[in-house]
Amino acid sequence: MRITAKTKVCGIIGDPVDHSLSPVIQNAAFEALRLNFVYAAFPVKDVEAAVKGMRSLGLRGLNVTVPHKQTVIPFLDALDDHARLIGAVNTIVNEGGKLKGYNTDAPGFMTALRRAVGEVKGKRIVVLGAGGAARAIVYALTQADARVSILNRSADKAKALASEFGAHSAGSLDDLSSLIAATDILVNATSIGLPHGIQESPVRKELLRKGLVVYDIVYSAKSTPLTELARKTGCFVIPGTEMLLETAIVSFTLFTGCDAPVEAMRRALEEDLK
Ligand code: ATR
Repeated sequence: MRITAKTKVCGIIGDPVDHSLSPVIQNAAFEALRLNFVYAAFPVKDVEAAVKGMRSLGLRGLNVTVPHKQTVIPFLDALDDHARLIGAVNTIVNEGGKLKGYNTDAPGFMTALRRAVGEVKGKRIVVLGAGGAARAIVYALTQADARVSILNRSADKAKALASEFGAHSAGSLDDLSSLIAATDILVNATSIGLPHGIQESPVRKELLRKGLVVYDIVYSAKSTPLTELARKTGCFVIPGTEMLLETAIVSFTLFTGCDAPVEAMRRALEEDLK
C-alpha cells in the first residue's frame, strides 16, 4: 500500500489494543479494493484527548474498544439510534469535522448468530455478563424477540439491564446451573478469557452438553478456555472471531462507503490466527 498525502487514516483506540486483529482485517480490505486508506492501533488511556486528536488530525474513522465504549459518548457530536439506545459506541465516523458514533457490535453479533443457528425468535438464550458488550447483545437479542436471561457476577447489574431492555429474567452466575437444561444458546459476554485477563472458563464443564450452542464473544488467537471446553463436550461453538469479522464489515462500510470485500477480510483474519 502506498501512503500519500491524501491517505485517509482510521484506527482503533482502547487499552489494551496490542492484541487487536482489526488492523489486519481493515488494511486487507483497503488493499483488496485499492482504497487510499490506512488503519492503525492506538493505545489510549485518555479518551477525551483521543477524540480531540481525531478532530484536529482529521482522522476519518475510529473503532473504540474496552474500556472506552461508554465513556467516549459525551465527546461526540451525534449518535445513531442504536448506539444511543445501547449506550455504547464502537465506531466513530468523522463527517467533515462532525463526529458521529455507531454501534456495530449489535448487528455483527446477530449476523454471526443467525448464520450459525437461523432465526432466534423464541430461542432461550443465557447471556453471561452485564457490561458494555453485554448491553449491545441483550439489546439486539431482545429486539429479535429471543427469550433472554442475563446472569452476572453482580446480579444487580444484570437485573437493571434486564428491566431496561425487557429481558425475560436475570440473576447471578450461580443461577446458570438451574437454567442450563432449558437453554438453547449460551453467550459469554464477560471479559473472562480475554488475552490479558483471567484464563479460565466462566462455565463449569458439567454444565455444558452436546448440542448446546456456545457463543463466546471473546476472541483470541487460539481458542478461549470456554470454546476449548465446549468443543471437547460436543457443543456447537460460535467463536468470537465470527462476531469480530461481522462488526468489522459494518465498520468498513461506515468508514469508506463501500461494500466490504468479505472474503479478503476473512482470509486476512484466518491467516493472522494461524
Ligand atoms: P465489556 O465492555 O467487555 O463488556 P465491561 O463493561 O468492563 O467490559 O464488563 C465486563 C463484564 O465481565 C461484566 O459483566 C463483569 O461483571 P461485573 O459487572 O460483576 O463486574 C464481567 N467480569 C469481569 N471479570 C469477571 C470475573 N472475574 N468473574 C465474573 N465476571 C467478570
